[in-house]
Amino acid sequence: MNSIIKGLVTIMMLSGSVVTLDVTAAEGVEVNHLGVNNTLVRITGEGRYLLLPVQESNDDARINVLVDGRLDRSINVRLAKSKVDYYVPFDLSPYAGHEVVMNITTTQGRSTVREAKDDACWKSMTLSDTFDTANREKYRPAYHHTPLYGWMNDPNGMFYKDGEWHLYYQHNPYGSKWQNLSWGHSTSKDLINWENHPEALEPTGLGMVFSGSCALDPGNTAGYGDDAVLGLYTSADASQTQSLVWSNDGGETFELYPANPVITLESEARDPNMFWDDNAKQWVLLLAHALEHEMLVFTSPDMKVWTLQSSFGKGEGAQGGVWECPDLFELPVAGSDERKWVLICNLNPGGPFGGSATQYFVGDFDGKTFKADAGADGKIPTKWMDFGKDHYATVSWSDAPDNRRTVIGWMSNWQYAAEVPTMQFRSANTLPRDVSLFKAADGEIYLSSAPSPELTGLRDRLTLNVKKANINKKGRVYDLPAANDGVCEILLDVDARKSKTVDIELKNSDGERVVMRYDVAAHTLSFDRRESGIVDFSQDFPAVTVAPTFETDNKISLRIFVDRSSIEVFGDGGRFVMTNLVFPVKPYSKLSVSAQGGNAKIENLRIFSIK
Ligand code: FRU
Repeated sequence: MNSIIKGLVTIMMLSGSVVTLDVTAAEGVEVNHLGVNNTLVRITGEGRYLLLPVQESNDDARINVLVDGRLDRSINVRLAKSKVDYYVPFDLSPYAGHEVVMNITTTQGRSTVREAKDDACWKSMTLSDTFDTANREKYRPAYHHTPLYGWMNDPNGMFYKDGEWHLYYQHNPYGSKWQNLSWGHSTSKDLINWENHPEALEPTGLGMVFSGSCALDPGNTAGYGDDAVLGLYTSADASQTQSLVWSNDGGETFELYPANPVITLESEARDPNMFWDDNAKQWVLLLAHALEHEMLVFTSPDMKVWTLQSSFGKGEGAQGGVWECPDLFELPVAGSDERKWVLICNLNPGGPFGGSATQYFVGDFDGKTFKADAGADGKIPTKWMDFGKDHYATVSWSDAPDNRRTVIGWMSNWQYAAEVPTMQFRSANTLPRDVSLFKAADGEIYLSSAPSPELTGLRDRLTLNVKKANINKKGRVYDLPAANDGVCEILLDVDARKSKTVDIELKNSDGERVVMRYDVAAHTLSFDRRESGIVDFSQDFPAVTVAPTFETDNKISLRIFVDRSSIEVFGDGGRFVMTNLVFPVKPYSKLSVSAQGGNAKIENLRIFSIK
């Protein structure tokens, strides 16, 4: 850390003029208070980063970054007032050799400049060559994708190219709450280990960079080459418009299409998701007409000129909130020659357990119009992709290999995403899942989400292997792995034909627990996290979620992935899934399995620790 200098300092500017500053700042950072809510910060020292002190509970300050006197960018940062919760790095390396001044407007109510001078941020803005992103926070997942630091929401622009899975995400590089939306970027060769890359897209004059998608353009339809990656995202300012970008370096950096925006409407529309329709030889784009609760379908020969073809959804499915983040793809129906289209529609609020959730529709698409299948009662059924509270903004990778349709979601809920007990980062992604279609006993076609096959690569040691065990009311208790904060995968097959319910509990020595109950007659699995650990940061967090199990034989087969602050339960190869966050004060150390209303049989129970 640099030393702090205080007092009246007279300095000679590059321009030759002389000014006197009342300085209370770290070395190399000059602070000049202009009024109760306006301060200039000038960088005079050396360092790769200016570390900006943040206080989570404070209001945003607007920082206009001037480089050689010209506005380079505006960012919003919750600059610390009474205490510093953490720092965020502002990268100065692009401006080496140039004059950098920050014109900062704060919004706190105060009457004198003296009060403004007392803000904690001025004393603790520091120049540094390093920024600490080490993964030390207690609730930071061990094997789920997270940003290195800062806020994250939706996954964006995912595509697969040359052996790499690209994942972009809604990112605030300047704090752990939603703000300054940019596209962060990570890549993986195995969907397990993620490498972090520099910010791929940052706000422009049209606004912040909201959600969108990418796809390869091997036909060079947009004119940027056969190898180009094309992207479309929502520019969000006072209005929402759609912007085209392209990359010739495999998605590392993007160029803006100069004539953006390519789609404008008079009402909120966002999250463009496009694919190449090889039959019609044109691009198809879905756009969420958020407040109208419908998805718009556009087509284009070149990604630049778009024609509105149809809309889907008015009055259909769950309508309790805005419609966001669409996706549309075709899949075979298991066990038949049939193929069906799936339209993904993320919805917030209005999910089955409150807040955000992902619904989907199964139907047909003729290149211009999507038509959902009606159920036996003649109505279009509402179907949910995941039956937990923490699965949102889920969309799929473009151009995935082997005809795979692989999806990933944001593992949180808008009800409390900004309040969860983490600090330097907020939110992780779900595990990646490979989706497929199956016909259930009720004759309906449903979407199954299985853990992506790569995930077996997470397994380290087999710490428990039970071939057969009878269970009764008293139940059996097994140890969970202790290494690495207990992160593990549990595989459990239960035959419950002779019992009414089976309880599966994860618990720690503080009495914190998660209770999953398989109700045999109701064919449901519930997940109760009301006593799971820290739950009081939001009244919407303590909850019980319930999934239909889709089986007819009173047996279930579960794969349960436990990470430091999440549990994902996959049933019967993905026919049902529940994703829920948990914040136990200590890791869960025991698994208990018991049966009520008769005996049940564990047919197979294996636990793997995770590297
Ligand atoms: C969904 C969403 C999108 C939007 C983005 C903004 O979670 O509201 O509709 O593009 O988040 O961050």
